[in-house]
Amino acid sequence: MSGPRRRALVTGITGQDGSYLAELLIEKDYEVHGLIRRSSSINTRRIDHLYQDPHASDRRLILHYGDMSDSTRLNRLIDEVRPQEVYNLAAQSHVKVSFEAPEYTGDVDGLGTMRLLDAIHHCDPAIRFYQASTSEMFGNVPPPQSEDSGFRPRSPYGASKVYAYWMTVNYREAYGLFACNGILFNHESPRRGETFVTRKITQAVARILAGKQDAVYLGNLDAKRDWGYAPDYVRAMWLMMQEAEPLDLVFASGETHTVREFAELAFAAVGRNWESHVRVDPAYLRPTEVDALQGDFSKARRLLGWEPSVSFPELVRIMVEADLRAEGLKPEEVMVRPTGGPAVASR
Ligand code: NAP
Ligand code: GDD
Repeated sequence: MSGPRRRALVTGITGQDGSYLAELLIEKDYEVHGLIRRSSSINTRRIDHLYQDPHASDRRLILHYGDMSDSTRLNRLIDEVRPQEVYNLAAQSHVKVSFEAPEYTGDVDGLGTMRLLDAIHHCDPAIRFYQASTSEMFGNVPPPQSEDSGFRPRSPYGASKVYAYWMTVNYREAYGLFACNGILFNHESPRRGETFVTRKITQAVARILAGKQDAVYLGNLDAKRDWGYAPDYVRAMWLMMQEAEPLDLVFASGETHTVREFAELAFAAVGRNWESHVRVDPAYLRPTEVDALQGDFSKARRLLGWEPSVSFPELVRIMVEADLRAEGLKPEEVMVRPTGGPAVASR
């Protein structure tokens, strides 16, 4: 016979990762509580398929208003919900925006993490805590980056996340909390925000095919990233929280590709030449850039048995296909078959 249903609190539940994590936890029979921000228009699009009316019995998804800048709310929420696991995914997560809003980014991404850790420490130190740390913390440390690499952040976002990383370690060492850092390299999906470069490109491919635009304006095409598929990475978060001891682990694909290569593959998937449609606009350059990321996830593979399940070309095709559908186009009619593979990559 199974025990009482486990409760998890997910901050950032309306984001890309939050939505996949909520799906995974519900599938694993958790009662999932999510922190959402009040806004004048509803922005729960990514989790609408999981939504349940507050009057329904046996609810599996329960949403609470709040904000990472509001410690009184976070304290009360931890006390009211009394989750066994807290996944802290909420963040101002856009690197370029962090140069425009450094104070806000530091408040939400850095201090916000400390507020949550402190709420747990005072309410119930048995609550397990996952921090959404990032490869952006490595900054200009040369690849491959692993748990043994130092941090040389190159953005207010990266610096805020370094603070959050060390506060997570500190609450673990000082108070014995089960507090762990997942150091995740870039991960994408059809739910990726439209202003991140992968989604910006795949959405543009679809809109160009639909005749709605002719070009897409990008910044640095030479930047190299280690791109994986988001559902693989939320599985990593959950795995870390089931371990006997809290760890800090890198999750990545182990490969690196330029923004140019991503664009080339995305346009090639519909038989177009990327150079005919991609233009460079310096407005999208960053004051300081992270030039090259490539993660070494051998420790996670060894300890957790974690492996990414989607290759780089598959990821590009999954995203192009989803954006074509969103534009009302039929991928099987417009996508070019990759050598040896199926015309569409549906997941
Ligand atoms: P995302 O799509 O931008 O989602 C961010 C989430 O945080 C959204 O739910 C957002 O709410 C919420 N949020 C923002 N500011 C908040 C505030 N002040 N109070 C409460 N909630 C707030 O990000 P993601 O790609 O899912 O990433 C999830 C986490 O992993 C983030 O912490 C990110 O920094 C980190 N990370 C991401 C990657 C990646 O490649 N995706 C890699 C490493 C680490 P709204 O919907 O209301 O905006
Ligand atoms: N956003 C964006 N828009 N990036 C562009 C563009 C553009 O038009 N043109 C080129 N790029 C380059 C950026 O300069 C960067 O080198 C790369 O594309 C990836 O940019 P993003 O997709 O915005 O992601 P990111 O790597 O800066 O940050 C993402 O990954 C981090 C993990 O490494 C975010 O998800 C962060 O929250 C996450 O921590």
